[in-house]
This record gives sequence, C-alpha cells and structure tokens, in this order.
Amino acid sequence: MSERRTVLVTGASKGIGRETAELLAGDNWEVFGTSRTPDDYAPDGWEMLGLDVTDDASVSECVSAVTERIGRIDALVNNAGYGLNAFTEEATVEEVCAQFETNYVGVHRMCRAVLPIMRRQGSGHIVNISSLSGLIGTPPSGHYAASKHALEGYSQTMRFEVAQFGVRVVLVEPGFTQSEFRANAVDPAEPIEAYDELRERIGGMSEHVEQRAAPASAVATTVRRVLNTPHPRLRYTCTRMDWLAAHMRCWLPQGVMHWMVRKVFGLQAAKRPAHSDAHE
Ligand SMILES: NC(=O)c1ccc[n+]([C@@H]2O[C@H](COP(=O)([O-])OP(=O)(O)OC[C@H]3O[C@@H](n4cnc5c(N)ncnc54)[C@H](OP(=O)(O)O)[C@@H]3O)[C@@H](O)[C@H]2O)c1
Repeated sequence: MSERRTVLVTGASKGIGRETAELLAGDNWEVFGTSRTPDDYAPDGWEMLGLDVTDDASVSECVSAVTERIGRIDALVNNAGYGLNAFTEEATVEEVCAQFETNYVGVHRMCRAVLPIMRRQGSGHIVNISSLSGLIGTPPSGHYAASKHALEGYSQTMRFEVAQFGVRVVLVEPGFTQSEFRANAVDPAEPIEAYDELRERIGGMSEHVEQRAAPASAVATTVRRVLNTPHPRLRYTCTRMDWLAAHMRCWLPQGVMHWMVRKVFGLQAAKRPAHSDAHE
C-alpha cells in the first residue's frame, strides 16, 4: 500500500480549492481534485476528477474512482461552493434551494459517501470550508450566510458523532479571499427596486474588498495545518483579521457588533416603524 496520504478536494479547478490541491500535492499527498468540467484542466502532480456535488451519481462515481485506485481516503476537503448575491427578501425559493443544494446538501452527499470508508479505516480528516459568513450574516448574502451557518451546526454535531471512529471534523472559516468567488456569485433573478440604493452602495465597496482580500494560499496553508494535526480544534480562521472578526463577535456586546457591521456596509440604523407616531 502507498505510504502517501490521499486527499479529495472538491472544487479544485480554481481559487481556494486549486491552491489547496497544489500545496498538498507539493507536500507529497496523493491529491484528487474535482471540477464539473474536469477535461478543461491538466493539473501537474495531481489528478482532476469529475464531480457535481448536487448529483448523487456523480458523488458516488467520484468517490469510487478514488477508492478503486488507492483503496483509502485519508482526508476530504469540502470546498465546492458559490455565493448568492441576493438581499434576503429577493431570492426566489429556487435560488435558495440551489444555494443549499451545493453549499450544504453537497457537503452532506460527500460526507455520506466518504464516512463509511473512514470508519472502516478507523481514521480520517473531514475539513469543511465554511466562512466568516457562517458566524456573522451580512448583506447582500443572507442565504449564503444561512448555508454556511447550517454547515457550522452540521460539522459541530458530526464532530461529536464520528470522533469515536477516529474521524476528525473541522471547520475552516475564511474571510474575504482572492479567488473567482465574487465573479462567480449568482445575481438574483427577481431583484427588488427598493434595495437598489443599498445594492449600489455595497457594490461600490467591491474594489476595496478585493484589495483587502487575503491570498487563497492563506486558506490552503490553514487546511494543510489541520491535516497535519492529529487532534485539530473544531474551528480555524485563516488570517489575524479573520481571527479578530470571529472573536469580536463573542467578546463585544451585540449592539456594538451590529454598529460595526452597519458602519462597514454603509447601512442605516433601524428606522422607526411608520405607525409608531400614531400611538404617541
Ligand atoms: N473567496 C472568498 O472570499 C471566500 C470566503 C469564505 C469562504 N469561501 C468559500 O470557499 C470555497 C471555495 O470558494 P472560492 O473562493 O475558491 O471560489 P471559486 O474560485 O468560485 O471556486 C469555486 C469552486 O467550487 C466548485 N463548484 C461550484 N459549484 C459546484 C458544484 N455544484 N459541484 C462541484 N463543484 C462545484 C467550482 O468548480 P467547477 O466550476 O470547476 O465545477 C470551483 O472549483 C467556497 O465554499 C466558498 O463559500 C470563499
């Protein structure tokens, strides 16, 4: 049997997933990355498999392809995901279901396919790429935040359940990271005019966001650190700023935290309800 450890990284065609696959391949891991269009890529030193995490058969074929070749999976990095740029009210039910189908149910499909293998081995690391949006919801991505909050609860629970089999479940929570994430984010099919001013204001911040974004390597090195730790913690952030943001949420009074979010996103304080004057 090969001495090299085997990792399956979903969504490795670009951004964080590709950076992670390349870093681990350089560390002598046997790396299988995935894409919905695998033939478009010819990675050096690792292999690209076809995978759509929204499709049961595709998940099953992808995991079988690895086990038939190598016989084991030491680590699964659930990275595939996308953003939905809709204000919470705007998103259609179909858009919400599609967001959860990839970012949440897709992770579950992968875990259900890989966990029997890891239980049999008596070991394994499952790293779920969440987000600071899994801790703090900010506009205009309520449903994206909801999908990552769901992933947080899922991972925390699964971690308790599978520790007995030697399997470690970990959340990596990046903040803004350089990738194609924002270019690939889906805009709402039914935008509501009342949100246009806020949409424009937040859209105007995008250049500033891109400048502040951490390199994808910050996430990749965090994943590597987790995979090299026999008993990793539940949660890892990837930069000092992200660590601070994640912890400020626990330390600061809620009102102060919400004031800071409003300040960063240029949001107005809550307006008094129109009917409140009538009662005075
Ligand atoms: N960039 C950020 O600021 C940021 C911050 C926090 C968290 N994250 C999280 O990091 C992860 C990676 O995002 P990224 O920034 O690297 O974005 P990206 O550059 O857009 O890459 C997304 C990857 O996900 C794959 N993917 C999307 N839908 C898929 C599906 N249905 N089935 C299989 N693969 C699918 C894409 O593969 P193909 O298109 O080739 O199939 C691609 O490789 C996501 O989970 C995202 O939520 C990103």
